[in-house]
Amino acid sequence: MLKIFLSLLLCSVCAKYPSDFVFGASTAALQIEGAWLQDDKAPSVWDNLAHLPGFIADGTTPDIAADSYNRYKEDIDLLVSAGIRHYRMSISWPRIVPKGRKNTTVNEKAIKRYQEMFEYMKQKGVTPYVTLYHWDLPVVLSLQGYGLVDRNFSDDFLYYANASFYHFGEYVKTWYTFNEPWVSSVLEVMKDKEKAEKPYNISYHLLIAHARTVKLYREEYQNKHKGKIGIVFNTGMSYPKDPNNTKDVEAAYRAMNFSLGWFADPVFFGDYPEIVKQRVGNRLPKFNEIEKGWLKNSSDFFAFNHYSSSLIEEGKYQEQNDYDSDVNVSYSNDPSWDYTDSGWAIVPKGIHDLIVRIKEYYGDNIPIYITENGMANKETTREEALNDQPRIKYLNDYLTNVKKAIDEGANVKGYFVWSLLDNFEWWSGFSKRFGLVRIEYGEDPKRIPKASLSWYSDYIKKNIAPETSIE
Ligand code: GAL
Repeated sequence: MLKIFLSLLLCSVCAKYPSDFVFGASTAALQIEGAWLQDDKAPSVWDNLAHLPGFIADGTTPDIAADSYNRYKEDIDLLVSAGIRHYRMSISWPRIVPKGRKNTTVNEKAIKRYQEMFEYMKQKGVTPYVTLYHWDLPVVLSLQGYGLVDRNFSDDFLYYANASFYHFGEYVKTWYTFNEPWVSSVLEVMKDKEKAEKPYNISYHLLIAHARTVKLYREEYQNKHKGKIGIVFNTGMSYPKDPNNTKDVEAAYRAMNFSLGWFADPVFFGDYPEIVKQRVGNRLPKFNEIEKGWLKNSSDFFAFNHYSSSLIEEGKYQEQNDYDSDVNVSYSNDPSWDYTDSGWAIVPKGIHDLIVRIKEYYGDNIPIYITENGMANKETTREEALNDQPRIKYLNDYLTNVKKAIDEGANVKGYFVWSLLDNFEWWSGFSKRFGLVRIEYGEDPKRIPKASLSWYSDYIKKNIAPETSIE
């Protein structure tokens, strides 16, 4: 209490963010790069799915998207012109290792292109934050029964990760192994009958691959490259629908533990939360002592993506035999909340409360990074896009809550808007627009800055501490 009071008192005079705070923007390879078969790239699972009829809401594909593989200079120039000096992006596994598997060819053409991209960023003073796996698994792995369902998944991933560290480590000082492992474990498991074991098997494979990759980086590269490595979680804030009802409180606790805790507890403490172990029982693959050792403290920071929050009450599932009934919660929204174009509730205080919870659970000292936050705005016309006031309000309200948590003593070190560009939004294709910059899709995708880009640029200038000023 005293600590919070003192930091509030101190920070009433320090209106700006801490001097080492980074403001950035995020993207992911599959969603912006296009060039889906260029330079010997092989298709990813998402390239494959997008070409199946009826799978993507608007029937679009990521074949061209924003064509950032070829137009990366335009993207970097946009960042620079807006004073955004930190760029979270991902590299594409099926570009680097088209056959996916360990000991197969590393694609020199793609290595060269990414090196040119990193070199350009270096010249322009933009720092890369690189995700190795943002869902674009080489499709060949999944067709041959390898990939996330394979017990030896980590061997193939390690091979790709090692090639990336080796070729790009000189440029990249922040690495993320996996983006949102919860999504890969739960949302990508489509069939209900697979939900008994598959999510837990996938989560185990992902966590082992993460831990081994971090071990590799720390042992072979970290001294030389002086970089950091970790993982990116995703979570909303779960509030008990009625805070005075014990069942709702317990349900909210379950919801947090079966989303964030399921992955963050192994990464920081070496094992799953007790409640996950109790409720999943024998369907949960156990970590042995060696694996627990690899996992514990296997992230140099606490990075998470955050968009929305929910009210939670106990669910109606009877039998405890799959993921949904293991969690057994039902989600709703407060009537006062507004919605984004994706139908996600806008709850700015959720980001504050989540940061406070992370600090309480995972420790005061761990540096916290918000690696994605932003909204889909309804922008059917160019005019609507150019004046994207709802996005400005969303970002301002969420950032105000991040700042509040910092002023109360939270060790938040960075914030990245999702996204720099409109992009291929997975199942929604191009129908949902998250960008600070509009993309006019087609053979020759044009970039058109929106009002939110200039708002974010001003926000950074006003809030950046003098020592980190880029002028
Ligand atoms: C995240 C994901 C991003 C982006 C965003 C907006 O879960 O990491 O790739 O799609 O959601 O939906």
